[in-house]
Amino acid sequence: MGKHIGILTAGGDSPGLNAAIRGVGKTAQSYYDMQMIGFRDGFRGLVENRVMRFGPETLSGILTVGGTILGTSRDKPHKMLVGGKVQDMTDAIVENYKANHLDALICLGGGGTQKNALRLMEKGLNIITLPKTIDNDVYGTDVTFGFDTALGIATDAIDRLHSTAHSHHRIIVVEIMGHRAGWLALGAGIAGGADVILIPEIAYDVESVADAIRKRVRSGKNFSIVAVAEGAMLKEQAEAVQKAEARKETAESKAEKKKAKEKLAELHIQYADNTLRLSRQLEELTGLESRVTILGHLQRGGTPSAADRLLATRLGTACADLINEDHYGVMVAARGEGSEPVPLEEVAGKKNLIPPDHPWIETARRVGTSLGD
Ligand code: F6P
Repeated sequence: MGKHIGILTAGGDSPGLNAAIRGVGKTAQSYYDMQMIGFRDGFRGLVENRVMRFGPETLSGILTVGGTILGTSRDKPHKMLVGGKVQDMTDAIVENYKANHLDALICLGGGGTQKNALRLMEKGLNIITLPKTIDNDVYGTDVTFGFDTALGIATDAIDRLHSTAHSHHRIIVVEIMGHRAGWLALGAGIAGGADVILIPEIAYDVESVADAIRKRVRSGKNFSIVAVAEGAMLKEQAEAVQKAEARKETAESKAEKKKAKEKLAELHIQYADNTLRLSRQLEELTGLESRVTILGHLQRGGTPSAADRLLATRLGTACADLINEDHYGVMVAARGEGSEPVPLEEVAGKKNLIPPDHPWIETARRVGTSLGD
């Protein structure tokens, strides 16, 4: 009899999760004769030992289905709300891992999941992860599954918004997901031909955005599309966040760290309506009408693209291969057409932000897109 493995999906859902579950499961069960069980709703299901058995039929018909058949949650093993109290549930996870006689646990998730997985690895569990998120901000992998689908949805939305912006001679400010990383906004903005793209990695100035729109008006184009990432910030806001982050990093006491964290949370709440404010300001500064479209969770929904199905399937199968070789404590990263195991220590706690010299940034500038700086 082969190994016993467990699998869970954690963090926000992402197109391609089911394709990855299927890729791992089919390879593990049919190719390596392993037994696979799932845990429902992320790490919470593991704490509560809510198991999903994978019969021969369970993995059929899910390749094209969005979301995750396992359910997901943003619960963290070491800080979980249980019985009205936030508790460290790591020991319960270790117990259930043992009770289910697992040889390995596969965690499908984004940046937060990589950190949580590392914590479990440090408790002695055999952990292996796969990188998913529509934000594409997981460190150490070329790309995450979910990104391509969301990119297609956001690009299609910009295409559609062009019609109304053009017909009404309006500005349309379209908010695209991505609090820390602007991959989606930049990618969809370029692909959809947005006139202005604002991303968290490049702080913006409203006057500069208005200038770009006024320049278009002078050249006879009396409509504009502004693609803005959720986390895009004004220059002064970015400075305040940087200061608070530095204070958090250098805090010498727990109390100081807590205060810095609270300050950061407060700043992010203040900036949450940046998109609406930007639209109002642009109306005032340009004299054009402006409307806001927030794409929100539409970007995570529905059928995964062919590229995401392919990526999730090949990372899933590579994951089963690594388990067969007893290769644990790694994330299965996408590398070119193949994959590569990257130690969790190298991935956890880091973010894949758009580097200032990334070719997409230059590409956007070359075609005359304003980045608001
Ligand atoms: O999972 C990534 C993401 O979609 C981000 O782009 C977005 O900021 C966040 O999740 C939204 O989280 P939730 O679905 O928990 O509101």
